[in-house]
Amino acid sequence: MSNSRFADAVRRRLGAAGWLDRSQIDAALVDFRGVFTGEAMGMARPASTDEVAALVQLCVEHDVAIVTQGGNTGLSGGAIPATPRSGDARPRLVVSMSRMRAIEDVNIERGTITAQAGVTVEELQHCAAEADRLFAPDWGARGTATLGGAVSTNAGGINVVKHGNMREHVLGLEVVLADGRVWDGLRSLPKDNSGFDLKQLFISGEGTVGIVTRAVVRMHERPAQQRIAFASLSSLNALNELMALARSAVPGALSALELIPEVGVAQVVEKFGVRRPLGIVSDWYVLIRYDAMRGGDDVARVDDDLTMLLNRALDAQLITDGVIAGTDAQESNLWVMRDELTATRSFGGFGVKYDLAIPPDRIAAFVERADTLVSTVVPGALSFVFGHVGDGNLHFTVLTPDVDDAPLIRAASELRTKLDGLVWEFNGTISAEHGLGRELRERVVGQKSDVELDLMRRIKRALDPDDRLNPGVMLPDE
Ligand code: LAC
Ligand code: ZN
Repeated sequence: MSNSRFADAVRRRLGAAGWLDRSQIDAALVDFRGVFTGEAMGMARPASTDEVAALVQLCVEHDVAIVTQGGNTGLSGGAIPATPRSGDARPRLVVSMSRMRAIEDVNIERGTITAQAGVTVEELQHCAAEADRLFAPDWGARGTATLGGAVSTNAGGINVVKHGNMREHVLGLEVVLADGRVWDGLRSLPKDNSGFDLKQLFISGEGTVGIVTRAVVRMHERPAQQRIAFASLSSLNALNELMALARSAVPGALSALELIPEVGVAQVVEKFGVRRPLGIVSDWYVLIRYDAMRGGDDVARVDDDLTMLLNRALDAQLITDGVIAGTDAQESNLWVMRDELTATRSFGGFGVKYDLAIPPDRIAAFVERADTLVSTVVPGALSFVFGHVGDGNLHFTVLTPDVDDAPLIRAASELRTKLDGLVWEFNGTISAEHGLGRELRERVVGQKSDVELDLMRRIKRALDPDDRLNPGVMLPDE
C-alpha cells in the first residue's frame, strides 16, 4: 500500500479539503518553539465525527499511525509525530481538528457549551461571555489552543486556583476510538456514578487512547468585575503567608495568583515595551486578581477589598509596595507582562525547562534548594521561575543568558536528573499542566511506581492494542 493510494482513499472519503500532502504541512511538523520535530506522510482534515471515524478505519486498514493535532501550542511535544521505534515502519498521519470548529450548543440553564474539538479556548470564552457566563480555562495561547488539545492535556492556566483545570470543566466527551468506533459520552450531568468515569482516561490522554471530537464543558457565573494588583514581595519566604492572606481576607474573591520574578519583568520591559508597574525593584512580585461576583455596590467593593489586602500585607511586611490596575490599559499591561513571560523564559537560548508542581506551601524552600543545585552543577546559570503559585505550579527554567550555552547543554542531563529528584523529594510532579508528551515520557518512570506504570500500560493496551494512536508519546517504553 503506497502513501499515495492512502491519500487517494482519504480524499475520496473526506473530499479534497480533507487532505494536505507532506509538502504542505511543514508547520505542523514542528512545535511553535522549534523544540520538537517529526515526520508524517501528510495531514488529514476531517470535518465531522463521522469523517474522523472513517479516517481511523482507513488507518486501520492501511496500517497507518495517527497523531492528532489541535492548535499546536503544546509545550511537551505531544502533537508532533515522535520518531518511530526501530522496526516500526508504519507511516504517520497528522490528523488536524482545524475543520471541526462548530460551537453546537450554549445551554444557559445547564451552564454548558457543546463544541467540536477544533474550537479555540478564546472562542469558548467569547461564547460564554455573550451568554453572560464565564468559560474559565485561560492561558497565554488562548487564541490558538483548541478545546480538543486542552482536554487531551488537561490544560491549566491562570484561573485554576479558583476553577480548577480542564478536568473540572468537562462534563461529557465524544471520542473516536482506535478501532474507529465512536464512544458517545456527550453527557451534561454534574453527577453520574454509573460505573467507571471513562472520560477521565481521555482527559490528559494526550491523544494516545482516543481522538476527542466533541465535548460538553461547564460555564461558571461571570464576575461582575475583576481587579488585579501587582505587588513586590519582601522576600520569597513571605509568599506562604501572603497566599493565605489573599485567600482569607475576602473569602471566595481570589481568582488568580501568579509569581513573577524580576528577571522576567526586566526582559518583558525590554523586549515587549511593557511599562514597569512599580517604582521599586524587587526580586519577586505577585499578581493577584480578585473577583466581585455581584454587580451594584459590590463592584466598588472589589477595589476596597484589594486595597485592604495590600494594606494588610504591607503592615505585615509581606510586600514592600503594591498597585491596583486602575484602568483597562494598566490591567492589560500587566496581563501582557504575564503572558509574555512564557515567550521570554528561554531568552532565545538553550534552557532546561520545567512545568513542575509541589505542595504550594513549600515553594520558597524548593526554589532555594533548586537554586543551590543549579549553581553547583552549572556555575553562572540562572533560574527563571514564574507561574501559578496558588496551585504550587512553577514554570522553572535554567538558562545562561548572554553567555555561552555550551556548559549548560553539556550539564543538562545531569541537571535534569538532579532537579527531577528534588521535585520528587518535595512530593511533587515534573508535569503539572503541560503533559508528558515526548519530553517527559521516559523521565516520568522515576516518578511512578511499577504498579502505576503497569496500570497505565494496561489501559493503553486495552484501548489501543496496536499502538496506533500517538505512538512514542506519554507512555514510557516497557
Ligand atoms: C504559562 C504556560 C507556560 O503559564 O503554561 O505561561
Ligand atoms: Zn502555565
